[in-house]
Amino acid sequence: MTTTELLPAQSVATRIHPVPGGCDLWLLAESDVDEVAARLDASSALSPLETERLQRLLRPDSRRRHLGARVLARWAVGRYLGQRPRDVRFAVGEYGRPLLIDGGHLDFNLTHTDGLIACAVTTGATVGLDVETFPARAEAGRLITRVLTARELEHIECTNQRGVREALAEHWVLKEAYTKALGLGLHHAFDSFDIRDLKGRPRVHDPKTAAMPLPDWSLHLLHLGRAYVMGLARSDRRHGTVLPLRLFDAAGTLAGVETATAALVPRAVAGVAVARVSVSGQAVVSHLQTLEAPAHPD
Ligand SMILES: CC(C)(COP(=O)(O)OP(=O)(O)OC[C@H]1O[C@@H](n2cnc3c(N)ncnc32)[C@H](O)[C@@H]1OP(=O)(O)O)[C@@H](O)C(=O)NCCC(=O)NCCS
Repeated sequence: MTTTELLPAQSVATRIHPVPGGCDLWLLAESDVDEVAARLDASSALSPLETERLQRLLRPDSRRRHLGARVLARWAVGRYLGQRPRDVRFAVGEYGRPLLIDGGHLDFNLTHTDGLIACAVTTGATVGLDVETFPARAEAGRLITRVLTARELEHIECTNQRGVREALAEHWVLKEAYTKALGLGLHHAFDSFDIRDLKGRPRVHDPKTAAMPLPDWSLHLLHLGRAYVMGLARSDRRHGTVLPLRLFDAAGTLAGVETATAALVPRAVAGVAVARVSVSGQAVVSHLQTLEAPAHPD
C-alpha cells in the first residue's frame, strides 16, 4: 500500500458518533487550509460543481475560505457517516443552504470569516452557524438599525462605539445562525425578529414563524477568545437545557492526534492568539472547561 492510499481522502477514518441533543464544532484556521486541502487531495475530492464554484471566486482569500469550508465539510461529515471525504454527497437548498444526501439524521452548517472556518454537526435537529470577527468593524456600525429591532435597540446598553459594535456582532451572529438553520440566510430580514435575553439564555421571537409548526430554537453565543464571536442555532424543543458542545480542531484530527486533550483545544483559535472559549445560552464545552474565562474583559 502506498502512502497516498493511506490519505483520508482515499480511506475511511475512525468514525465519530454524534452526541444526541448536542453539537460538534469543527474549526479550521485559514492558515491551515492549504495543508489540509493537500492532505485530503482536494483537487480530486471536490465535486465538479464545487470545483467550478471555487474557480469562479477571484479573490484569493475568498477562494481559500470557500475551499476550506468544502474540505472541512467533507472531512468532518465523513467522520460521522463512515465515508471517505470524496464520497460525501451534497445538495443545495433553494437559498443556498448546503444539505446532505443520504445523511440520515445528521445535519451540518458552515461559516467562515477572516482567519477562521467552522462547521457545526448535529443529529436529530437542524443547525445554523455564523462566525464573525469581534467586535463588528467600525463601518458596520451604520447597519445597526437594519439589523436590530427597536426592541433590541432599547435593551442594549451601549455607552460607547465599541459597545455598539459588540452588540451588533453578538446580535448578528445569532440572527444569521437562526436564518441559516431555517435555510433562508439573508432572505429573512434581520430586523423582522428579535433575539431576547442575549446575555442569558438567548431565544428568538419571530412573528413570521411563530404561527408555523416549527420547533423552538436553542441559541448559543460563543466567544472564541477576544477575536471571534460565534452564533449557533439548533432546532430543539428542549430549549433551556444544556447543550453539550464538543470542539474539534480539523488540522489536529487530520494529523491523527485527536485522542490527546491538546487536539481538542482548537489550534485554529490558538493560532490567532485566542486561548479561551466562553459560552452563554446554556452550553457546555467538553474538554475546554479549564479554559473558560469571562469574555472580552476590556
Ligand atoms: C448565506 C449567507 C447567509 C452567507 O452569509 P455570510 O456571513 O457571508 O457567510 P458565512 O460564512 O456565515 O456562511 C457561508 C456559508 O453558509 C452556507 N450557506 C449558504 N447559503 C445558505 C443558506 N441559505 N442557509 C444556510 N447556509 C447557507 C454555505 O456553506 C456558505 O459557504 P460557501 O459559500 O463557502 O459554500 C448570505 O450570503 C445569504 O443569505 N445569501 C443568500 C444567497 C442566495 O440567496 N443565493 C441564491 C441565489 S439564487
